Amino acid sequence: MNMSKRSLKYVPLLCLALVFTQCKTKTENASDNQEQNLTKEMTTKHQISTSEFGKLPSGEKITKYRLVNENGMEVDIINYGGIITNLKVPDKNGVNKDVVLGFNSLDGYLTPSPYFGAIIGRYGNRIAGGKFVIDGKEYTLALNDGKNHLHGGNKGFDKVVWEATQISNSKSVSLQLSYLSKDMEEGYPGNLKTTVTYTLDNSNSLKVKYEATSDKKTVVNLTQHSYFNLSGDFSKKILDHQIMINADAFLPVDATLIPTGEFRKVKGTPFNFTSAKAIGKEINSENEQLKRGLGYDHCWVLKDQDKGQRLAATAYDPKSGRFMEVFTDQPGIQFYTGNFLDGTLPAKGGGTYAKRTGFCLETQHYPDSPNQKDFPSVLLSPGEKYQTETSFKFSVK
Ligand code: GLA
Repeated sequence: MNMSKRSLKYVPLLCLALVFTQCKTKTENASDNQEQNLTKEMTTKHQISTSEFGKLPSGEKITKYRLVNENGMEVDIINYGGIITNLKVPDKNGVNKDVVLGFNSLDGYLTPSPYFGAIIGRYGNRIAGGKFVIDGKEYTLALNDGKNHLHGGNKGFDKVVWEATQISNSKSVSLQLSYLSKDMEEGYPGNLKTTVTYTLDNSNSLKVKYEATSDKKTVVNLTQHSYFNLSGDFSKKILDHQIMINADAFLPVDATLIPTGEFRKVKGTPFNFTSAKAIGKEINSENEQLKRGLGYDHCWVLKDQDKGQRLAATAYDPKSGRFMEVFTDQPGIQFYTGNFLDGTLPAKGGGTYAKRTGFCLETQHYPDSPNQKDFPSVLLSPGEKYQTETSFKFSVK
């Protein structure tokens, strides 16, 4: 009896505890559900999907990976050449349009392509005479650009099949591409293990991370060769796009587009993009360098080279309001205004790509660095890691 009396005393307390536990369980369940919903939302809005893009003549299937973020920004990448085939970003009215030049099908990329959207390696840009020396040994590369070697040779990284791995977390989606370039492939020494990771996050930034190691001393200079037309209309020239390049100097070139070794101040020249200006403003000026490049096709010496990631360039299309910022840790940026496009290649939306319907901002080390003693070194030794990052961030103004 006494016992039961004492127990009765505790009944209200027990009830309170029970109610509390139940409430707590309910809240936990609710937050679990919320989390589940959120994850569900994330995975529906923020994802990677795959489809077949075509077949190589060997019968090997090429896959297209579509990375989509929460804002509906979309990047299509194929495992052939690591090529960005489509990049859809919103304009000031929220209308998504494709802003990179490319082809509708794999066939377009298999016939000579001007490197549309591709990863470039082992050496982005030119090497004079296709020759360089490491430790007294001369290496000879293909001459695929007149007397010079360009963009890795006859079968550069833009023409190989990469092994693809999909990665996604709560903040972003990534496609990691790996390729082993064998010792002496295209004439370059060393087995070069390369990984290029594309990451799309929810701030509309597309990051490209490059990593490489070699078992012999070699030279490396990787870049991304997307041609942008922020209007999303490939029948329009890019001459009214406004470009800013964070550089006080550029590298003048000889008649074959090899840097002369001079660092020339941009001030007072058509090469001055320190404040944003229209590409077309001075592109046709009487200027020997513009004549040699048939327009802009030069490497700018970026400022703040000791600062790691920093803003290198911006591009703005006043009509659509699309604005792109390029961040990098690289010393240079090749600004190329599609001068060799000649209206023969078929455009994605119909018609053809005419001269200056796309521009490239290729972050990189300076052209011909292996042969220019005053340029920063591009040498990679065994035990070292080549590591660099460039981001293309999209917004509207
Ligand atoms: C680079 C070069 C250009 C041209 C294009 C591809 O940007 O600098 O001269 O070769 O690639 O056509």
